[in-house]
Amino acid sequence: MRPPAELDLPLALDRAAGLPLHQQLAAALRSAVLDGLLPPGSRVPPSRLLGTQLRIARSTVLTAYEQLTGEGYLESRHGSGTFVPEQVHRVPTQHPRPAGASTADDTADDTPDRAAVDLRPGRPDTRRLVDGAWRAAWRDATGRDVPPVEPPAQGLPALREQIAAHLRAARGVIADPADVLVTAGTGDGLALIAHALGGPPPRLVAVEDPGYPAARRILTRLGWTVQPVPVDDDGLLVDRLPDLPVPPHLVLVTPSHQYPLGGCLPVSRRLDLLSWARRTGGVIVEDDYDSEYRFGAAPLPALAALDGDGQVVHLGTFSKVLSPWLRAGYLLAPPGLRRTLVAVRDDLGTPVSGITQQALSTYLASGAVQRHIARARRDYGHRRRHLTLLLAAHPHLQLRGTRAGLHAVIDLPAGTDVPAVLRRCARSGFLLADLRDYDALPHAVTRPGVALGYGDATLDELERAVTALASAAREAPLD
Ligand SMILES: Cc1ncc(COP(=O)(O)O)c(C=O)c1O
Repeated sequence: MRPPAELDLPLALDRAAGLPLHQQLAAALRSAVLDGLLPPGSRVPPSRLLGTQLRIARSTVLTAYEQLTGEGYLESRHGSGTFVPEQVHRVPTQHPRPAGASTADDTADDTPDRAAVDLRPGRPDTRRLVDGAWRAAWRDATGRDVPPVEPPAQGLPALREQIAAHLRAARGVIADPADVLVTAGTGDGLALIAHALGGPPPRLVAVEDPGYPAARRILTRLGWTVQPVPVDDDGLLVDRLPDLPVPPHLVLVTPSHQYPLGGCLPVSRRLDLLSWARRTGGVIVEDDYDSEYRFGAAPLPALAALDGDGQVVHLGTFSKVLSPWLRAGYLLAPPGLRRTLVAVRDDLGTPVSGITQQALSTYLASGAVQRHIARARRDYGHRRRHLTLLLAAHPHLQLRGTRAGLHAVIDLPAGTDVPAVLRRCARSGFLLADLRDYDALPHAVTRPGVALGYGDATLDELERAVTALASAAREAPLD
């Protein structure tokens, strides 16, 4: 598509309006993208040219471009300019009804009015993933000779080496590639552990409460008995483990970013957990699902890095770093446990295709994943700051758990009927998650609240979602 020499759009900036010019410009360009006036693939004018055209400073234009790049409405291509990405995948949504305009019954049909924006946790931003390095890696993987055998059960050696290097760079874990096993993500890794470890029934696993429901479902399906252990704002209450009637064979924890509440397990509790494992022979499964994305303070070292006794299996995934679409992850296990896990995997066969493993290995070796993480961390940080600012205007919505990751928890006033709030939000076009859906035992979550994923959201969507949530929470009946 030919680049426009000048932007042929009605961009009226109002110097008298209270809103800074860069925000006005960003809003006008954002609407132009959503309305199709700036179609995918089109190039926006160089900042200097647009500045001259609009009689504003070039830095104002750059600030607006930077903001829109963070939101995914624009992308900068090195040496060729700034473009509307080919996959601007948002359909324009209407603005929510003004607060109080809805008279609908909360118990009525909760079908969203239109294609809803799904802000439930779990979605990373994949808009900028497909770049030259990504395409080259897949071209290379599909262009190679196809072996007439299965990939090795433990994973391609080249990929295991790259994963060990990734663990060193991103998590400070010194891993021997021989101890890495390629998985199809956390769920697959957990299923493998569940098949391989634990004695005769009952097989017991302690889990965080509230915690990751998918993990509980997997373990239950595979015949394990789940023992919920409460968490506080810092994560698992390790001192409650000895209260369990029988010591569990496994403890599943999210120490870097407790899921879903967001706590980071303090060092003292980490050491207590390791010494509990040493005493009882229990195995700790560390679900390290999103610790590449930590804002502000550097992440604490992984539990696996503190483990001197071979008690920790570290589960990593590319679902947040790249996409859950890939189904790729890894586990790192001390040699004793690793041998057992590999033997079981050998019987089951690897679920990760050799082509995916080859492409991932080439992609990691190119250094592109580190660049992607750095870029995504900036974008997520931008969204997180925006969310914080938006919520500051609504004292009845209390934000917590935004030090890391791609989701946040928003506490609602005591007694709020959360399902009613969620139905109202859905009718305004936004899906959020009820914090109680993460409970293992009824009422583990003591405060009403919602979980909101900001990984895949634009700033504009966050703005509208917060407006919808604020008015829904004000109007919802107390239970
Ligand atoms: C706590 C937790 N662990 C792990 C994952 C990733 O799972 P998988 O690698 O199976 O996609 C998620 C995804 O949402 C998660 O919330």
